[in-house]
Parts: sequence; C-alpha cells; structure tokens
Amino acid sequence: MADEKAFYLTTPIYYVNDAPHIGHAYTTTAADVATRWRRQRGEDVWFLTGVDEHGTKVQRAADDGGVTPQQWVDRLVADSWLPVLETVDAANDDFIRTTEPRHKERVQRFWEVVRDNGFVYSSMYEGPYCVGCEEFKLPGDLIDGEGEYADQRLCPVHGRPVEQLEEENWFFRLSAFQERLLEHYETHPEAVQPRSAYNEVVSFIRQGLVDISMSRSSVSWGIPLTWDDRQVIYVWFDALLNYATAVGYGAEPGSRDAERFDRVWPPDVNLVGKDILRFHAVYWPAMLMAAGLEPPRKVFAHGWLLVGGEKMSKSKLTGIAPAQIIDTFGSDAFRYYFLRAIQFGQDGSFSWEDMHARYTSELANGLGNLASRGTAMVARYRDGELPPAHDLTAAEQDIVDALAAAAETADRAFCDLDFSTGIVAVKEFVDRVNGYVTEQEPWVLAKDEANAARLDVVLNTICESLRAMAVLYNPLMPKAMSSLWEQLGAQGVLGPLAEQRISDVARWAQLPPGTRVTKGDALFPRIDEAS
Ligand code: ME8
Ligand code: MG
Repeated sequence: MADEKAFYLTTPIYYVNDAPHIGHAYTTTAADVATRWRRQRGEDVWFLTGVDEHGTKVQRAADDGGVTPQQWVDRLVADSWLPVLETVDAANDDFIRTTEPRHKERVQRFWEVVRDNGFVYSSMYEGPYCVGCEEFKLPGDLIDGEGEYADQRLCPVHGRPVEQLEEENWFFRLSAFQERLLEHYETHPEAVQPRSAYNEVVSFIRQGLVDISMSRSSVSWGIPLTWDDRQVIYVWFDALLNYATAVGYGAEPGSRDAERFDRVWPPDVNLVGKDILRFHAVYWPAMLMAAGLEPPRKVFAHGWLLVGGEKMSKSKLTGIAPAQIIDTFGSDAFRYYFLRAIQFGQDGSFSWEDMHARYTSELANGLGNLASRGTAMVARYRDGELPPAHDLTAAEQDIVDALAAAAETADRAFCDLDFSTGIVAVKEFVDRVNGYVTEQEPWVLAKDEANAARLDVVLNTICESLRAMAVLYNPLMPKAMSSLWEQLGAQGVLGPLAEQRISDVARWAQLPPGTRVTKGDALFPRIDEAS
C-alpha cells in the first residue's frame, strides 16, 4: 500500500461566527457519504473537515458577544460545531481548527516559501470589501442597492453594502498564474465540476487576473506574517491552507505527518458550495503553484439550500439547525433526503411536507416495509432460519440481474458525486424486490406444504436482496443498515458490514442457509404528519 495514494476529500472549513445550519450539514453529509462509499470499495481514505476561526467576521461576532475571539471560537466549536458532526453521523478522520499551532506554523512557512519564490510584494489596496464573504470585491462583482441601501453598492450574496478599504499590505502575484491556470484547466476539464462551474471559472480567468492582497493591516485576529508582524495573513489565504497543513504540509521530514502528506496529496476532491468557487478554483491552485505544490484534482461546487428563493445564511439568520430535522426524522433520513431530493450541483429547498412524503413512501413504506416483511416471514414460516434456494426461476434471475445493474450504476454515480442517481439506482432495486414479493405472495405459498421448496426460494431471495441493500446503502444510512445487518444475522457469517465490498455486492447467495434471521425494530418508524 505504501506507494498507493489515499482518496483525500475535504469540506470547506466553516466560519465560527455562529452555529451551523443545514447548509453546512449538507456539505458535510455529502462529503461523508462520498468517503464512506470509497471506504466501502476498500479504498484508503482521508476525510477532513474543520473550522475557519480568524478574520473580521469572527472578530466582530466575538466583540458583539462581549468575549475575546479565542473564547468565542472555543465555545462555539465545543457547543455547536463538533456536536453537529455527531448529529449528522459524520465519520471524519480529522478536524482542523485554524487557531491550532500545527496550522499557524505551517501557514507561516508556506507564505515564506511563496515570498522567497518571488510572488509577494508590498503595495496599497484601495477598494471594496465584503465582510460577510471576507472578500476583496471587484467592480463587476457588486450590485446597486435599493430602498434603505439606495445609492450604495451591495454584495450580491449578502445583500448588504460593502466596506471601502484603504490599507498598505502585502500582495500575492496572482496575475503571474493566469496562463498556467488556463493551461491546467484546458488539460484537466474534470478539475472543476459541475460543468457550469468550470465554464464560470475559465471565463473569469480569461478576463484577466489581478494581484490580490494576501495580508491585512487593519485586522488583528489572524496569523502574523513572519516578516512583518504588524500584519496578519488575509483570512482566506490562511484558511485555504488548512487542506495542506492538516495533512502534514511543512512537517518534519520523516515524521508521521510528513508521511501522511505524501500519502494523500493532492486532494482528490475539495468539496465546496458555489459561493466560494472562485477562491477554490482560482486563488487556491495559484497559491499551490506558487509554492511548487500540485493543485487539487477536482473542485466540486454544489448548489445552495434556499429559503424563500435566497441562500440560507448565518448572516441573515435564515438558518435551520440540523437537529430541528434530525430530532424528528433521524440522521439516516436527513442524509437520504438531501442527497436524494436535490441533484448535487443544483440549488434546492427544504420543505417539511416533501421530507415527510419521501420519508413515508421511500423509507418507511419502501425499504423499511420490505425489511420487516422479509425478516418477519423467515421468523414466522422458518423459525428464523434462512432457507436454502435450490431452483431459481426467471423471477429470481430477474432480481439477480437487477442487482448487478443497480450496483454498477450506483458505483459509478457515487464515485462521480452524482448522489441522486446512485440513490435512485438502489431505490429502484428496492421497488423491484417489493414488486417481486407482491407477485410471489409468500403468505399464500405458506398455506400449502406442497409449496415449501418454492417458499424457501422466495424467502431466500428476499433476504439475499436485503443483504445487498444493506451494503449499498451503508455509506448513506449507516445506522439503519447496521440494524438491518444485525436482523439478517449477517455479521456472524459474513463479518462486519463495513468490510463488505461494493465490487462483491452483486455476487448472489452469500448468506448461507441456516443463518439466524430475526425481526427487529422498524428501520424507519412511521412519523405523524403533525410532528
Ligand atoms: O465560506 N446551501 O465559510 P462559511 C448550501 N470559511 N451550502 C451552504 C449554505 C447553503 N445555504 N450555506 C453554507 C466560508 N453552506 C469559509 C470557507 S474554506 C477554505 C473556507 C456551506 O461558514 C457550503 O459548503 O460561509 C458553503 O460553501 C460553506 O458552507 C460556506 O461556509
Ligand atoms: Mg458564507
């Protein structure tokens, strides 16, 4: 394995100006499903998430809260940002905070390298800045205000006036990378996804790149420059580096951290929302090129969760806390719903009605009902012992073939971050097996001992299908699938669910006859519309 690269995927590191909402949970959930899928394929995986603690936005939130920025971030990370990972059931390998020494030291080292390479110089910045975005805005980025903001220029994302800055600071020579970036994206058209994001990035670069401030002189909450301690590193040029510092960039050669860096670099996917595409697909690869590092293989920009047609946001207080949904529906259904109902890459909105409707029809009545019917019938008709399947008919062969097709489509789709296609492939297999049960009527077969062998085949087919569903849905709904695995008695005969491989999932007849099947609690208990 030593020469094999790990699959390395990151989420953005979120600002801790406030607690997380379902927009943040959406990115983290997608990242978690993508990486769990890779683990289920047997790949070596590294999944990083974390928080962005510096900058004006966090500093002002702390000021408003009447505490120091460090106290503010410590409290929010402990009370909200770490717990939300458990709430959504994320299995991240690491969690980076930008106030950690490992990050600060390595960020300072990185910018010394870039300066030594000749890409940093001192100059004056005069222009607009949006604190919500923590971004130096270009004239074309802004919109005209109306009403209370008439005659002002607004940030289109935050809908609020930008601030006018005038400060002496250090610049990053971004313009030097225009041609290299264009060449990079011409030869790697897959490096920014979806396609609309790729086109946006390439046309932005073609318009011409101007140099950009990499430090701030009027901000104190940040990482000081080593060569000018009156300035801190511009928060984005500190934050983006988390993807490198967390996995050991700049670590002592030969150390465990340095080994990890060699094992995972470059990132396979930097997963982000489309609000921060330009930072990730223009500035970030340019920074890496300036330091002689390989850029990410792919930046994927997903869409926004909308509220009343606008991006759900902490700054606008339109956020829904993940627990508001998960307390009712559970983490599995939350994960299922957002990746199933919204085409990844497009915008979407959340509604309780839609969530409830899909939960009921696709999870409770679909998969949940199949699992409870299947296990209950083995318990009732065969004393909980999985019967053998001797003669498969065309009806069973149909199921075997459908599974092979579903597994293939799902694998391709989940690897491409096309979650809804992957989920629909498995869901259609579930529907198919439910249809098979209805057609075969095992409850009728059970009435006549002469049909015993046929009933064996039907029950076996249902359980074998459930076995495959548990594996295919484990990355998406790990809690319910581990319960299903237990009900099937699979652990004792096939080993842990996590060790079942996607490449092997369609191989039929894995559960040996005699396996102990039990009917457990409902995987997706019915939920009243009112709750
Ligand atoms: O931008 N819909 O942090 P942030 C979907 N610290 N996703 C959403 C969302 C919504 N309505 N709202 C937030 C920052 N997100 C920087 C990132 S990375 C080096 C630094 C998700 O707290 C989405 O992933 O504003 C978006 O890109 C991210 O949260 C922005 O989080
Ligand atoms: Mg934001």
